[in-house]
Amino acid sequence: MDFLTQPIDPTSECDLAAGSLRLTLVDTTDAAAFDGWIRADFRGFHSERPKEEVLEEARGYLGGRRTTGVYDDAIPAHEPVGTVNSWVAPLTVPGGERVDAWAISSVTVAPTHRRRGIARALLGGELRTAHELGIPLAILTVSESVIYGRWGFGPATYATAWSVDTKRVRWAGSETTGRLSFAEPEEYRETGERVLENVMAGRAGEIGLEPYLAHRLIGPLKGNSEADKYRLVRYDSVDGEPEGFVSYTVKGDDDFTRHTVEVNYLAAATDEALAALWRFLLELDLVASVKIWTRGVDEPLPALVSDIRGATVTAVEDHLWVRILDVRAALEARTYERDGSLVLEVADDLGLAAGRFRLTVTDGRASVVATDDPADVTLPVNALGSVYLGHDVARGLAVAGRIHGDAAALDRLFRTQVPPRLSTWF
Ligand SMILES: CC(C)(COP(=O)(O)OP(=O)(O)OC[C@H]1O[C@@H](n2cnc3c(N)ncnc32)[C@H](O)[C@@H]1OP(=O)(O)O)[C@@H](O)C(=O)NCCC(=O)NCCS
Repeated sequence: MDFLTQPIDPTSECDLAAGSLRLTLVDTTDAAAFDGWIRADFRGFHSERPKEEVLEEARGYLGGRRTTGVYDDAIPAHEPVGTVNSWVAPLTVPGGERVDAWAISSVTVAPTHRRRGIARALLGGELRTAHELGIPLAILTVSESVIYGRWGFGPATYATAWSVDTKRVRWAGSETTGRLSFAEPEEYRETGERVLENVMAGRAGEIGLEPYLAHRLIGPLKGNSEADKYRLVRYDSVDGEPEGFVSYTVKGDDDFTRHTVEVNYLAAATDEALAALWRFLLELDLVASVKIWTRGVDEPLPALVSDIRGATVTAVEDHLWVRILDVRAALEARTYERDGSLVLEVADDLGLAAGRFRLTVTDGRASVVATDDPADVTLPVNALGSVYLGHDVARGLAVAGRIHGDAAALDRLFRTQVPPRLSTWF
């Protein structure tokens, strides 16, 4: 399978050609063409115009992705009016196996060309291409939660943001172990990548990170206006094993004793690393507030502080969206914490994953076969994506009328004791 050279999806190509637009793969070895695409991507997310060093870094990092552009040849510009890129990322599923997932990013449409079906063509094209290549599911993180349900994606993990009043809380965890030390991102990079690999393999919902995604968690990328403020602290176990790090910036206040720490990323491959790094953050001198994002819904912070109300959840938001493309492969890849059998009727407007399937779980492993037996549960493919990684959303979807039938049985089978989490964006 070569996802980079797989031809462009003919359906989307035709749909766009009808509106005089050209859908094409971008040659990422052609610096001028790739720069135009990168500029359009930055503009799409209202980022600054990328300077040469930023373009150079992005070309190096993103050249290995399947890169697609939509061009309006009627306008004299090198920049596409639509962008998307994709790659195959290992998604950790319940039980710890890692499944090939079609990761989609950089979905932008120029505001001059919005709402004429460009995103529809891009997304349909991505999903049909991934399906053709036999990838069992597609994933993305989203700027707005109203966009992707229509293409069969459902929110499958939720992320929490926290604000901690560190003048109010004291450390209430047990004695912490190991060693903390400052590090320079360039020198720590390889070690940090290994730590991240363990973090990402250790929880359903996390994905294996390309160097680009890993490096921006360890330190700032080129062009980051806050680069000079970045700090990196590593955690090594008692035995000297690298098990975690935190990268963060510190912002000043009129009152010098009340700085704010904004955590870029906290990586903890072990509970010891998690406790030690939290303690480090909570006990920083001259700091009154610590802010952190994309933690799990089960972040143990309340148990680590003397005053629970000093650590506040400021947001709980949908984070990883999952789109099942191959029901059998996806459901057989994960494990289940209870045995049972269910007939699922899956509806899919794009016709990629629709069907009636008997899911039988024995000793935690599933077998999935097509069946004509009556359905126990009827659900759209986006709802299947939402329950896939083990989150407890079946009841809500049933109350909302989006899952019909025995939603409690579906929940019992799919839900996992530890909720899934994705702790980064892509
Ligand atoms: C989101 C974006 C890509 C949509 O592109 P677009 O070409 O205008 O979308 P389309 O014309 O193909 O719209 C397809 C459908 O999605 C709907 N839709 C698209 N963007 C939407 C949005 N932001 N909110 C709600 N609905 C949206 C359209 O109304 C249309 O609905 P319909 O099928 O019921 O008619 C574009 O607005 C954009 O670039 N936004 C800024 C960058 C961004 O947020 N990208 C998403 C990254 S995750």
